[in-house]
Amino acid sequence: MFVLKQAAHAVAAEEARGQYVGDVYLAHPLEPVFMYIEVNSDGYIIQQHGQNPFRATKVGYSIAWSANSRAVSLFRKCTFAALLPFALPKLTLAIMTTDLLSRAMQNLERKGFLDIEVDPELDLVAEIQRLKREKNAIILAHYYQDSEIQDVADFIGDSLGLSQKAAQTDADIIVFAGVHFMAETAKMLSPQKKVLLPDLKAGCSLADSCPPHLFRKFKEKYPDHIVVSYINCSAELKTLTDICCTSTNALAIIESIPKEQPIIFAPDKNLGAYLIKKTGRDMVLWNGSCMVHEIFSHERIVKLKARHPNAKFIAHPECEPHILEMADFIGSTTGLLKFTINDSATEYIVATEPGIIHQMQKASPHKTFIPAPPQNNCACNECPHMKRNTMEKLYLCMQYEQPEITLPDWVIEQGVRSINRMLEISEKAGLGLKRD
Ligand code: 13P
Ligand code: SF4
Repeated sequence: MFVLKQAAHAVAAEEARGQYVGDVYLAHPLEPVFMYIEVNSDGYIIQQHGQNPFRATKVGYSIAWSANSRAVSLFRKCTFAALLPFALPKLTLAIMTTDLLSRAMQNLERKGFLDIEVDPELDLVAEIQRLKREKNAIILAHYYQDSEIQDVADFIGDSLGLSQKAAQTDADIIVFAGVHFMAETAKMLSPQKKVLLPDLKAGCSLADSCPPHLFRKFKEKYPDHIVVSYINCSAELKTLTDICCTSTNALAIIESIPKEQPIIFAPDKNLGAYLIKKTGRDMVLWNGSCMVHEIFSHERIVKLKARHPNAKFIAHPECEPHILEMADFIGSTTGLLKFTINDSATEYIVATEPGIIHQMQKASPHKTFIPAPPQNNCACNECPHMKRNTMEKLYLCMQYEQPEITLPDWVIEQGVRSINRMLEISEKAGLGLKRD
């Protein structure tokens, strides 16, 4: 039987061609001479000794990346893979993995994700499904995620739906395929659960546009106002907020507040201006915005509409007022999706992040969806934060249960009130999530 084992001694030196991972010994019962392989952190052999270099070369591929339970599949490239026993010495491989993991963990804060190479031939969809089952994990994905991430998710939704699902789920682990504030919201609603985000640097320009220490000073100028914050804000900002809202329930939230009660609305000035127009309320607005929804070109949209006279122009309320003025319909991502399903037109120009088009196209395959053009020269209006998540990062975060979202207790206790208030008002307004 083949035996693969980690050398007892750790190799501390760093090699010029890559960081040392460790030594690997491969033994064969018919060949008394050990093969000795040194593998770098990229999983490639940097040195080998022994009587059968042919075998050693084949063995080297990806050895260093093997998670203990997947050892067999990693050896499929070996010419003698068929001879390998199915019960490989898992402990040995686990040691190797642990070594790599500890290196990746050291870099986690700087990189935002576990920088461990994934075998390009690994069936990520099957692996992610397996991890979901084994760990009782649920994947919640926002509509702006890549289509392959949406397709592997258990629930796809807008910010309201995702927070409602996070509050309801009985899974042990919530894997958030979205951005940081969404994962924080899930943690606040289910503090006893483990909440994972594939990349901690998946932030949000809108949330970043409202730093809590500046908002605290701003709020002091309006002591008699209550604070309504768009959910696209940090957990700490939620501790300074009375009621959260999303673009789906913002109207219902504002209308639930007595008319004589003055309001500060933060952080999105565009959504705020839209709500002022719709409700006639005079709100004090924080001057924040979303980089994705401010990029649309009025001029190019006008030209595109002229080329597609039958297309309806639909827009998210985070867009600027002069873009919203042109819209045939304004709504949250869920609102826009529902509109395209129920409406009789067959062509739409869509002014929001183009990730939503995946679900629009799935629901209405006979219809055409054109992303609204941005002001820049390329055709890109994707959210760079949402798109930091990849299938590889999703797989790694589920495999190693990192990066994990953690929040101080006081932030959870004080911040969750504004989210719960939002969920109560939504429920009363008929915007609750149907339970499975
Ligand atoms: P909704 O999906 O709630 O409409 O929000 C859009 C958005 O910008 C999320 O970051
Ligand atoms: Fe934030 Fe805008 Fe990206 Fe949404 S689309 S996560 S609001 S930057």
